[in-house]
Amino acid sequence: MTYLSPSILSADFSNLGQACRQVLDAGADMLHFDVMDGHFVPNISFGVPVLASLHKALPQAFYDVHLMISHPLAYVGAFAKAGASLITFHLESEDDPRAVIDAIHAAGCQAGLSVKPGTPVEEVFPYLDQLELVLVMSVEPGFGGQKFMPVALEKLSALVRECEARGRELYLEVDGGVDARTAPLCTAAGANLLVAGSAVFGAPDPARACALLKGGEKGECHV
Ligand code: DX5
Ligand code: ZN
Repeated sequence: MTYLSPSILSADFSNLGQACRQVLDAGADMLHFDVMDGHFVPNISFGVPVLASLHKALPQAFYDVHLMISHPLAYVGAFAKAGASLITFHLESEDDPRAVIDAIHAAGCQAGLSVKPGTPVEEVFPYLDQLELVLVMSVEPGFGGQKFMPVALEKLSALVRECEARGRELYLEVDGGVDARTAPLCTAAGANLLVAGSAVFGAPDPARACALLKGGEKGECHV
């Protein structure tokens, strides 16, 4: 089973609730919520109040929150309270990974750990048994619409091998440059959760793009 998590970073923010409703109706499994602090990455996106509003409008949705921030530990509680279902932070952030994972679980959310393209995926292995998700970045975090970096594929395969060796089943998520061409490469390498921003919200008909990306598994993908 492959899940789709459209990144709302590429959505029309003037019409965010409706845009999210559309992709969920089209079969998206969750919403990917990219938080950027202008410090960990050279861009600023949105934060807690936006998640709280969305959660109020769409309380049933699963919120896949991706924190690209230097100090995730300080914000876990606020994002959990605002409606996060799963919170992913970066191994390259400045906080102790184990402390952040514990805080995420204590706040009642599932926990994910992400690595940037230049970080060896083996660095997440010591934390695998505590995690529900590993997020492999296939672009440098900070901006939507970048080109897919194939280094992510080797990392996904290495993760699959390590999870199998441990008898663990996790979400193996890939984020950045995922579209109709690269999505099948990711799933073949072992990803079971695809993030797509511009391939969904940049398409003329986001709902259709979403349905097609989801249908890609069955060979119906023409995005
Ligand atoms: C990048 C973000 C991604 C991004 C994906 O820093 O984490 O979620 O929005 O966008 P696309 O699919 O356009 O590469
Ligand atoms: Zn993301």
